[in-house]
Amino acid sequence: MKVLCLGKLPSPLQERLKTEAKIESVTYVDRAAPLTDTEITAALSGMDIVLSEPQDNLSENILSRCQALRMVAQRAVGYDNVDLEYCNRSGILLSNTPGVLDNATADLAFSLLLCAARRIVEADRYVRAGLWHGFESDLLLGREISGKTLGIVGLGRIGEAMARRAWGFGLKIIYCRSAHKNSGTTEIELDEKDRRLAQSLGARRVSMEDLLKESDFISLHCPLKKETTNLIGAAELALMKNGCILVNTARGKVVEEKALVEAVTKGKIIAALDVFAQEPTVPPPLLNSPNTVLAPHIGSATDETRFAMAELAVNAVLQVLQGGLPANLVNPQIFESAVNKL
Ligand code: DGY
Repeated sequence: MKVLCLGKLPSPLQERLKTEAKIESVTYVDRAAPLTDTEITAALSGMDIVLSEPQDNLSENILSRCQALRMVAQRAVGYDNVDLEYCNRSGILLSNTPGVLDNATADLAFSLLLCAARRIVEADRYVRAGLWHGFESDLLLGREISGKTLGIVGLGRIGEAMARRAWGFGLKIIYCRSAHKNSGTTEIELDEKDRRLAQSLGARRVSMEDLLKESDFISLHCPLKKETTNLIGAAELALMKNGCILVNTARGKVVEEKALVEAVTKGKIIAALDVFAQEPTVPPPLLNSPNTVLAPHIGSATDETRFAMAELAVNAVLQVLQGGLPANLVNPQIFESAVNKL
C-alpha cells in the first residue's frame, strides 16, 4: 500500500500512518503553490491513497491517469477540486473533514465582517504609516453592526455557527438554505430546523432575492457545486444594497469574479474575501481597491482545527485500511466494492 500526502502532516499523525496500518511507504510532497497537472500526475503515479487539500487538482483528467488510486482523503470539508462523479464510476473512495472547522471558519467570516465594517486593516496601515497625530472625532469612521441585517447564504454547520456569532452581536439574521440561482419567488416551506433557528436566534428564512435586497451584510457559506457556481453574478450584486459588505469564506467560484471586481471598483459593495476563483491569483483591481479586505484562504487555519482536519483524514485512511466504513466518507455507496480492491 503506497500513500501520498500532499502538504505537511503533523508528526504524531505521520507516526500513526507508519505504525497503525500495513503501509509500504508514505511519500510527502510539500508545496507552497499548487502543483501543475504534470507534477501532480507524477506524484500520484503508483499511489493507492492520497491525502489532498483544496489546491490539489484531482480532475477526471488527472485521476484517469492514476490507475492504482483507490482513495482520496481530502483534508477539507469542501471537495470541489475532486471529480466525485469520476471517483464513483472508478471505485475511488473519497472522504472529507466535516464538523471540525465550523467555529474556526465562522470566526474568520465574522472577523472579515468586522474588519470591513470597522476599517481595521486601513486603521492598522494608517498607524504604521505614521499618519496618526491625535484623536479626531471623525477619524476612520466605520459602520455599526448591531441592529443591522446579516444575510447568510447556505445554512449548514458553518452558516449556523456564523448565525450564532451574529446573534451575539445583536444583528438581525436572515438566511436562505438551498442556494440556487432563481430559487427566488417560490413559496418556502419551513421545517424543524427553520423553526429551531427562529426560536433560538430569531433567524428568518427568506428567498435568495429577498436576502440580497434586505441585507446590510451578506456572508456566503454554501459548498461549490454546479448549482452554486457563479451563484452571485452581476444581477445578484445589483440587487444588493449600496455599500453592502459581502463576505466570502466559501469558495471563490460561488461569485462571478469579473462581476465582483466591477461592483467593488464602482464602490457598489465592499468585499471581504478569504477565497478566490483562481487561487492564489487575486485580480489586481481587488488588490488595489480600498473596498476590499483580503485573506489567503485561512478560514480553518488555527492550530487546533488544522490538526483536527488532518486527524480526520488520517483516521479515515486507517479505518478503510482496516476494512471499516468511516463516517466522513462522501461516497459510502461504493464502499463495499471499493474496499475489496484495496
Ligand atoms: C475547507 O475545508 O473546505 C476549507 O476551504 C479549507 O479548510
